Amino acid sequence: SRSSDLVGLDIVITAGPTQEAIDPVRYISNHSSGKMGFAIARAFAQRGANVTLISGPVNLPTPSKVNRINVLSAQQMWQIALESAVKNHIFIACAAVADYRVADIAEQKIKKSTNEMQLTLVKNPDIVSDVGHLTENRPFTVGFAAETQQVEQYAQDKLLRKKLDMICANDVSNGQVFGAEQNALKLFWQNGSEQLPETSKQQLAQQLVNKIVERYHAKEHE
Ligand code: C5P
Repeated sequence: SRSSDLVGLDIVITAGPTQEAIDPVRYISNHSSGKMGFAIARAFAQRGANVTLISGPVNLPTPSKVNRINVLSAQQMWQIALESAVKNHIFIACAAVADYRVADIAEQKIKKSTNEMQLTLVKNPDIVSDVGHLTENRPFTVGFAAETQQVEQYAQDKLLRKKLDMICANDVSNGQVFGAEQNALKLFWQNGSEQLPETSKQQLAQQLVNKIVERYHAKEHE
């Protein structure tokens, strides 16, 4: 039945933003709501898959039967994600990971003083790229790409550069995807692509799960 056809399939999903501390009371983050990742987690769990959801700070309830692990920073997310990736069949990177973190987090609250101040930032690890490049126990790896122009070309570049099995491209040029209820996706893999037209994130997640499972099995039988 549909409620159990994915029993035995182990899925790990990253979702939401990361939070990069500046000092004990301040941080750098972004507007990711986590909705798409949580919708994908729910859609997989509804079909009996074993789902681990690694979530940054979001305001969403945990979908039924999903094992949720909360993290704050990109480095925390990286550590849990890499540990989990090698134990799962499919890794899906939905999180909006901060590209940079503060080089030296202040131990005490930074006091207001000069008119200008500078923060030095350093690059965070690219989680999905590190998973894609695993040489042992590498899961089927899926990434997302939010682009405002040349959607197809940038998505294809990311597919190759991060060594992904599939990439899901969002066109964010007109209007918002972040926090929205609706979304559309264009999927790319090595030798193909497919358009998933605009619909609710829940519906889109169900269609995406079908496609990921299909490509995962196609790769298994290559
Ligand atoms: O390169 P860009 O940030 O556009 O790539 C987006 C994809 O990479 C998403 O799947 C996102 O979850 C993942 N990513 C990541 N770790 C990062 C940056 C992005 O896993 N540090």
